[in-house]
Amino acid sequence: METVLSTDKLTKYFGKLCAVNRLDLEVKRGQVFGMLGPNGSGKTTTLAMLMGVTNPTSGNFTWFGEPATHHTRKKIGAVLEHPIFYPYLSGQKNLELNALIKGVDPARIGSVLELVELAPRKDDKYRTYSLGMKQRLAIASALVSDPIILILDEPTNGLDPMGIAEIREIIKRIAAEGKTIILASHLLDEVQKVCTHFAVLRKGNLVHSGPVDDVGKGEETVEVIAYHDDLSHILHEFRGSLSVKNENGKFTVHLRENFHAIDLNKFLFEKGIIASHLVTQKKSLEKQFLEILQESQDVSHKM
Ligand SMILES: Nc1ncnc2c1ncn2[C@@H]1O[C@H](COP(=O)(O)OP(=O)(O)OP(=O)(O)O)[C@@H](O)[C@H]1O
Ligand SMILES: [Mg+2]
Repeated sequence: METVLSTDKLTKYFGKLCAVNRLDLEVKRGQVFGMLGPNGSGKTTTLAMLMGVTNPTSGNFTWFGEPATHHTRKKIGAVLEHPIFYPYLSGQKNLELNALIKGVDPARIGSVLELVELAPRKDDKYRTYSLGMKQRLAIASALVSDPIILILDEPTNGLDPMGIAEIREIIKRIAAEGKTIILASHLLDEVQKVCTHFAVLRKGNLVHSGPVDDVGKGEETVEVIAYHDDLSHILHEFRGSLSVKNENGKFTVHLRENFHAIDLNKFLFEKGIIASHLVTQKKSLEKQFLEILQESQDVSHKM
């Protein structure tokens, strides 16, 4: 499958704060790719770099195998945090104005308004729209140019359950049309419901990436400590690794179904590595993610 986006050690510092740390991601055509992480984990910063809104401190990325240019960006539609619309213009007029500003053919406005179910309200003023409708108009606006990729940052933030369900339905519909979607969210449930693949960020670090189907699979987790410079790489190489997490030299390896600590131990031994610590735990990926997502909430509740 064609690689749409590839990032190579993408990094962003704000002063001393490392917002995104050596991020390696790969998104393939047709995927609905979730970037999952708690508040402040670097999702918006990553999207801002990918959209050319902010420059990476180091690292690179390519769209369709090429460095980002004006030309490649034309194939991307994005809904970042605060879309700008005029309150006293209708939804339809706002889209026409946006198309004009972006130099995009307005021919698709009618069909995208249908797609986001705003056609019956298209002539009403923007200021009379509900939050959910405003969000749907923002999605419509990003789709007018018929982009290959749609980028959404927390598309259901602030919406009520009904509004959330509507947006999720629309995202699925857009995906079914064959578009590649990159979506940032702090909700595991959202990512599980709409995404095919996902990456988990924590404090700017990639802690997991893989198909959404793997969540809930593979119950065995192994803690490993061993003295070897390239341990992270070797652990990733192991056929039974679903994810590898490093905390100050203590690695936690989440195993695929039917793989066990003994298989990992044998693999390391064959590579000439003797583990000084090897302990099995049982914990599903889902539980791990919920813990990661919980962490920042615990912090913010204390503030
Ligand atoms: N313009 C900026 N100047 C300084 N620090 C920033 C700036 N933008 C983001 N940060 C910091 O970078 C880190 C990552 O922020 P970012 O907004 O990318 O996280 P996020 O995952 O999108 O969070 P949220 O779920 O709250 O939207 C945070 O610590 C944030 O405070
Ligand atoms: Mg954000």
